[in-house]
Amino acid sequence: MESKIIDESKQGEALVREVQKNTFSAGKKMFLESYGCQMNFADSEIVASILIDKGYTTTSDYKEADIIFVNTCAIRENAESKVRQRLYDYKKVKKTNKNLLIGVLGCMAERLKHQFLEQEKLVDMVVGPDAYRDLPNLIAVAEGGQQAINVLLSKEETYADISPVRLDANGVSAFVSIMRGCDNMCSFCVVPFTRGRERSREPETIVKEAREAFENGYREITLLGQNVNSYLWSGGGLKKENLTEEQKANSTTFAELLEMVALIHPELRVRYSTSHPKDMGDDVLHMMAKYENICKYVHLPVQSGNSDVLEKMNRGYTREWYLDRIAAIRRILPDAGISADIITGFCGETEEQHQDTLSLMEDVQYEFAYMFSYSERPKTLAERKYKDDVPAEIKSRRLTEIVDAQRRHSEIRTKQGLGKVYKVLVENVSKKSADMMSGRNSQNTVCVFPKGNLKKGDYVNVLITSCTSGTLIGECV
Ligand code: SAH
Ligand code: SF4
Ligand code: F3S
Repeated sequence: MESKIIDESKQGEALVREVQKNTFSAGKKMFLESYGCQMNFADSEIVASILIDKGYTTTSDYKEADIIFVNTCAIRENAESKVRQRLYDYKKVKKTNKNLLIGVLGCMAERLKHQFLEQEKLVDMVVGPDAYRDLPNLIAVAEGGQQAINVLLSKEETYADISPVRLDANGVSAFVSIMRGCDNMCSFCVVPFTRGRERSREPETIVKEAREAFENGYREITLLGQNVNSYLWSGGGLKKENLTEEQKANSTTFAELLEMVALIHPELRVRYSTSHPKDMGDDVLHMMAKYENICKYVHLPVQSGNSDVLEKMNRGYTREWYLDRIAAIRRILPDAGISADIITGFCGETEEQHQDTLSLMEDVQYEFAYMFSYSERPKTLAERKYKDDVPAEIKSRRLTEIVDAQRRHSEIRTKQGLGKVYKVLVENVSKKSADMMSGRNSQNTVCVFPKGNLKKGDYVNVLITSCTSGTLIGECV
């Protein structure tokens, strides 16, 4: 089978364009499955929008689909194994449905490129995160019986003009991408390779998307980027360091963007993810304090509590700097919820360095944390420069210690909510009981309360009367 390929090495050949004529037929069904971070889920909503525009409909049953897309994550090895397993499962469906097309999208597509088509023959289409506008062409190529790939990364693409189709929606919370890519080059991380250079999206398009969501009944917007604190819109996509004083004065910073979104409506909550400690300035914290509807919650990944490890990770801050940022949050936003990401067993991590992570956790007492064993990723700085030399059983023992500490801290933090009254946005019927509803307070802790006449999207004040390790339970007041 001949393969039609667009990738970095064949830029400009645009082989795929010639098939644009459209073998596209209306009414075909796509099944779209997403893995990884919220940005990937937001991207799937862009993909859905592009294809629905071309006459496709979505289905939740892959067995009846004409086309299956798996939007993938490459962050850790086990994320990739899970996807690979799914792709093998889907390939089996081809035995009974000969016309079925399978496409792999997102970060793993970007990382593995042709390997999917050539070595494994697992899929018909390989599409990187900046190439979704090309999907109609690529599908046409695949429908013509050829393999299709576009893994070009872009310096400009932000899909700013595409209105996402809200897929997995509870109708209350929506995610809005404000930037793409990452320029940080943390030594453990594959994202700069799979998502390309950092670029910010025009603020007016962000506000427009958030306003439309509000008008459609949504009550919470989460602004997404790998490092939202370095968001900067200067019109021409220029970086901070290359701007003149005048251009700087006319640029939109992340704090200003937060304000623009907060001003849409007081009933629209604003959240964001993810902050980077090295770029987390007080301006953002003051802006959060200024508006009641900007949620008092900061996710501030620390990765390690030891400065030498942080340096090897190329994170751009020390333990002291990080703790200073935590102090700033506590000072400016005294009741804020704080969470983190932590990696155990990074290259060369000693027992003492691991203890430093535990002691930092004791200092901060996070509400919540995402904790991972280090997983070496091909091409990253760490893979090239350092040995992945902490044995698996030690990584796993350290992870257990960190998870145990976090469990304790979550419990302590949750208990502090007892007797308090929180304003909660009603999001869902509780998983435990049909008579109860659930939602989150501003600090991002899940609260459960009696249903009464409440419906999704309402705000309610809840007096907390009891709790589990991570959930607050109360009554409406
Ligand atoms: N941009 C965000 C994080 C994105 S990835 C930030 O800089 O904070 C989400 C988390 O996955 C990271 O914070 C890190 O804790 C974890 N992670 C990334 N690469 C990893 C790897 N190679 N092994 C284990 N965990 C990793
Ligand atoms: Fe990865 Fe670091 Fe960028 Fe986060 S900031 S996506 S960890 S390179
Ligand atoms: Fe995964 Fe890509 Fe997100 S690697 S974490 S899906 S940016």
